[in-house]
Amino acid sequence: MLDHEKVAIHTGRRSRLPVIVAVHSTALGPAAGGLRLWHYPDWRDGLTDALRLSAAMTSKFAVAGLPSGGGKAVVALPEGLELDAERRRDVLHDVADAIASFGGAYATGPDVGTGPDDMAVIGEITSHVFCRPAHLGGSGDSSPHTAQGTLAALRAVSRRLYGTASLAGRSLAVVGLGRVGAGLARLLAAEGAALTVTDVDPDKRSTADELDAVWRSPDEILAANVDILVPAALGSVLTRQIVAELRCRAVVGPANNQLATLDVADLLHHRDIIWVPDHVASSGGVINAISTELHHVSADEAHARVRAIEDTVDDLLDTAQRCGQTPAQAASELAMRRLRAVSAPVGTP
Ligand code: PHE
Repeated sequence: MLDHEKVAIHTGRRSRLPVIVAVHSTALGPAAGGLRLWHYPDWRDGLTDALRLSAAMTSKFAVAGLPSGGGKAVVALPEGLELDAERRRDVLHDVADAIASFGGAYATGPDVGTGPDDMAVIGEITSHVFCRPAHLGGSGDSSPHTAQGTLAALRAVSRRLYGTASLAGRSLAVVGLGRVGAGLARLLAAEGAALTVTDVDPDKRSTADELDAVWRSPDEILAANVDILVPAALGSVLTRQIVAELRCRAVVGPANNQLATLDVADLLHHRDIIWVPDHVASSGGVINAISTELHHVSADEAHARVRAIEDTVDDLLDTAQRCGQTPAQAASELAMRRLRAVSAPVGTP
């Protein structure tokens, strides 16, 4: 069953590439969610990704208590296709057309494969775009805020497991050194955490050296003997098989859609491994962008909202423990309650 409000698939007029925009829900407000510009074996895999990622955005906003809905855009690049500058502009303008056709029901932002400069190009055609560079009136790169939000989630988990919010002396394995992963690794190193890191791009080894971190291959790192595993790359890393091999006490990271299948959350719970739902641990970026660009709060207030992810995770872990649930169940019940509250007619109990 399709539970999305609207999904549009265009062949880009300029690029001839598949442009997908999925709006999962506008129950809480106009939908927002990033633009993923990524390679897929088939454009239908990009569609699957857009459907899952947009649904996760609905939960992300609901749990964060923000009046926005869930959406996502995906441009499914054929394997091996590299975009030169001109073609990239064409693609981004095609995405902008698709966004404009939603008439404000969806606004985009950066995601895997896109950044503030891309948002500037989209902004040439539509105003429904977050995170343009500051000189163009946007809130700029969202990744430092996503990293801060994940750090806040890690503090809550550390307090639960070790009685202190400080990550000094804790061992963490960061999987993926993209914009968010590398930023988070830097924050953790500055706090005195012992890091093991990886990336599919071997050039990122220089970041490991800079941070005095141990480098492992992407395959090895998941089973590393560390306190906390931090997925910060693409989704579906947590398979049934990987969960059996984990040697950490918690999994908390900014990657979207970490579970290969939903039952993996239960398997983690049975292994006594705390899993903070990815839509909570990754919400710092959107929280900052929406708070500053849509709600016009000060930078300080926006940062406070990002730091409040620590309280959100505290509450979820409390509720989960009290009710004998996984944190994922606690988060999904909270999201459902907030979504139901707006869809219920006034006066219903
Ligand atoms: N990539 C961001 C996320 O998954 C999406 C985003 C960031 C959307 C900033 C709007 C603004 O949360």
